[in-house]
Amino acid sequence: MAPLSLRALLGFVGAAAAVTVSVANSGGSPTSPYMYGIMFEDINQSGDGGLYAELISNRAFQNQSLKSWSAVGDSTVTLDTTTPLSWALPRSAKVKSGKGKTAGLKNSGYWGIDVKKADTYTGSFYSYGAYKGNFKASLVSDITNQTLASTKIKSKSVADSWTQHTFELHPAKNAANSNNSFVLEFTPCKETELKFNLISLFPPTYKNRPNGMRRDLMEKLAELKPSFLRIPGGNNLEGNFAGNHWSWDSTIGPLEQRPGRMGVWEYDNTDGLGLVEYMHWAEDLDVEVVLAVPAGLYLNGDVVPESELGPFVEDALNELEFLKGDISTPYGALRAKLGHPKPWDIKFVEVGNEDNLWGGIDSYKSYRLKIFYDAIKAKYPDIFIFSSTDEFTYKESGRDYHKYTRPDYSVSQFTLFDNWTTTHPVIIGEYATIQNNTGKLEDTNWDNPKNAWSNWIGSVAEAVFLLGAERNADKIWGTCFAPLLQNLNNYQWAPDLISFSANPADTTLSVSYPIIKLFSSARITHTLPTTSKEKPNFGPLYYAAGRGADSSYILKAAVYNSTNSEDVPVNVHFDGLKHGAKATLTVLTAPDGGWAKNTPGHGDAVKETVKHLTVGKGGHVEFSLPDLSVAVLIAGNK
Ligand SMILES: *[C@@H]1O[C@H](CO)[C@@H](O)[C@H](O)[C@H]1NC(C)=O
Ligand SMILES: *[C@@H]1O[C@H](CO)[C@@H](O)[C@H](O)[C@H]1NC(C)=O
Ligand SMILES: *[C@@H]1O[C@H](CO)[C@@H](O)[C@H](O)[C@H]1NC(C)=O
Ligand SMILES: *[C@@H]1O[C@H](CO)[C@@H](O)[C@H](O)[C@H]1NC(C)=O
Ligand SMILES: *[C@@H]1O[C@H](CO)[C@@H](O)[C@H](O)[C@H]1NC(C)=O
Ligand SMILES: *[C@@H]1O[C@H](CO)[C@@H](O)[C@H](O)[C@H]1NC(C)=O
Ligand SMILES: *[C@@H]1O[C@H](CO)[C@@H](O)[C@H](O)[C@H]1NC(C)=O
Repeated sequence: MAPLSLRALLGFVGAAAAVTVSVANSGGSPTSPYMYGIMFEDINQSGDGGLYAELISNRAFQNQSLKSWSAVGDSTVTLDTTTPLSWALPRSAKVKSGKGKTAGLKNSGYWGIDVKKADTYTGSFYSYGAYKGNFKASLVSDITNQTLASTKIKSKSVADSWTQHTFELHPAKNAANSNNSFVLEFTPCKETELKFNLISLFPPTYKNRPNGMRRDLMEKLAELKPSFLRIPGGNNLEGNFAGNHWSWDSTIGPLEQRPGRMGVWEYDNTDGLGLVEYMHWAEDLDVEVVLAVPAGLYLNGDVVPESELGPFVEDALNELEFLKGDISTPYGALRAKLGHPKPWDIKFVEVGNEDNLWGGIDSYKSYRLKIFYDAIKAKYPDIFIFSSTDEFTYKESGRDYHKYTRPDYSVSQFTLFDNWTTTHPVIIGEYATIQNNTGKLEDTNWDNPKNAWSNWIGSVAEAVFLLGAERNADKIWGTCFAPLLQNLNNYQWAPDLISFSANPADTTLSVSYPIIKLFSSARITHTLPTTSKEKPNFGPLYYAAGRGADSSYILKAAVYNSTNSEDVPVNVHFDGLKHGAKATLTVLTAPDGGWAKNTPGHGDAVKETVKHLTVGKGGHVEFSLPDLSVAVLIAGNK
């Protein structure tokens, strides 16, 4: 039989009975102040040239090739290893000119370069070889060959050493698109051979940090009002094979001293976005750092034996001393030397990443977590330590729960944390719904295709999962969607929260983004118990309630798959809320339905409506929520 609504059969129209929700004014518990955060790893889809504002791709030939570079004018360009710029940057581009008017090299950026008239572009490069004329640096259109900005730089280049040159570019107008390249030329009067290295160009960065981050993307992160930043991964922390783990001390100091690294996502990183830049990032967003340290598990399943773990633990302690230590300590002094006498305050450390995978759990249980935990606690008793898995905790450690799953399963996880204890607070360090992925319901079959974009039904399912976390906010320390960023030109993981290209107009926020933004902007500081006489069990309305910092009353809710997709009438009673008090209801919906998604150029699948309501007699607020909607109700007596 066709699934006709019983109500339709009986001739009822509209007006389903309201779900009543009673919110008590006492009981509940204080919540974690870190409930919403962001997670980052420097991977293929987001590495150098992503959030990091560098515009030149392969700027120091750390890819061991001339990737992204080509010859211009009368010249041949080859990779040269005879004249290292530093121990860390041994390769350079050798430009051999012919007798033509100009010679040089051209860089295509990270799939283009955005050029804006309002912006000043700050560049630098090293040259090696005698040359008395001028260099010319320019930005040119790949399509029209038009010069968009150009400047002359008087050469200081000499025969037997490296000399750095700096310059600025001021475009005369906006480029029509981001299909632009950077060109560095010289005008030989006879055959000349010059070498170049560390060729860099930055647009203005977020908060004008030198060597900083891309403004537009950082603004999108700031809008989420996050409380923490989980760095530097993810799989990227662990490394693919012995020795390939993320190593903090290769990412600090002058750029000339950073060798770069082939990350686990088959992408060469300059490591210009290193540990200190992560700290600037956290400072600029005013968030706490959850610092993950490599814990001796590699993605190929290699595990560091107990007898060889010492240097890893030492490395983690040195990193913490570098960040937190007094300037009288060796690594604290190094930090000061690099321009940061003031220590950073690292309160949270995670030991490894997903140590339950790749055959890591036995060694994690038997010695790895314990050794790191005891060593870090002995030196920094105030640091809170997370285990990298929910399967195993040690002493007072927190734990990390990751889930990539399908919408229905995500919804079923609403009650998951109800029976967990407060003893080992949970960071939900990675979560996202994956669609249309077949296989076991609760998991993701990584061999099957995944939808490229988050669909609204999946995002609403994530909201239900987050509400399950919110109502257990004494047990859940924080949550972060993963992965955070995706370069539209090159990625191997979907869906991601924010997609981008060189062109800021391409930036696409997933349909999960407005949900996180809405929930994060309405923080509950103390949960309140709820009861419902009609619906002792949740669904299709899911909710969590509590008080806000300004003593407002907050109800967060989501409707997932209501019967026949009907609106759900809701009658909320807040104990303590007075008749006549004002309430604001913000509702997110996707008019195109559950499969709605945001894609480049079509980023408005989710509609936000705001309604102003007045609290009725006895502290009741009435409204209805459409199927597949996410809502926040904030009410106050003031
Ligand atoms: C250089 O880049 C290519 C293509 O992106 C990649 O396959 C290769 O592994 C990279 N090499 C190194 C040494 O980073
Ligand atoms: C411009 O760049 C984009 C992305 O990098 C690329 O897809 C497109 O083909 C380019 N257009 C032209 C005309 O080269
Ligand atoms: C741009 O320059 C290249 C290389 O000199 C040339 O092949 C191409 O035809 C030029 N394009 C235009 C539109 O002039
Ligand atoms: C990024 O990952 C994709 C998919 O795995 C791969 O094809 C591509 O070569 C990688 N990009 C780089 C620059 O290594
Ligand atoms: C939590 O515990 C209660 C009482 O033991 C039980 O009825 C319920 O099924 C448990 N919930 C979960 C999600 O395990
Ligand atoms: C996913 O499944 C839904 C429902 O069957 C369908 O409408 C949609 O087209 C599918 N999307 C993809 C990308 O396969
Ligand atoms: C919810 O709706 C979606 C889309 O129609 C469907 O794929 C899914 O099976 C439904 N889930 C439940 C639990 O009804």
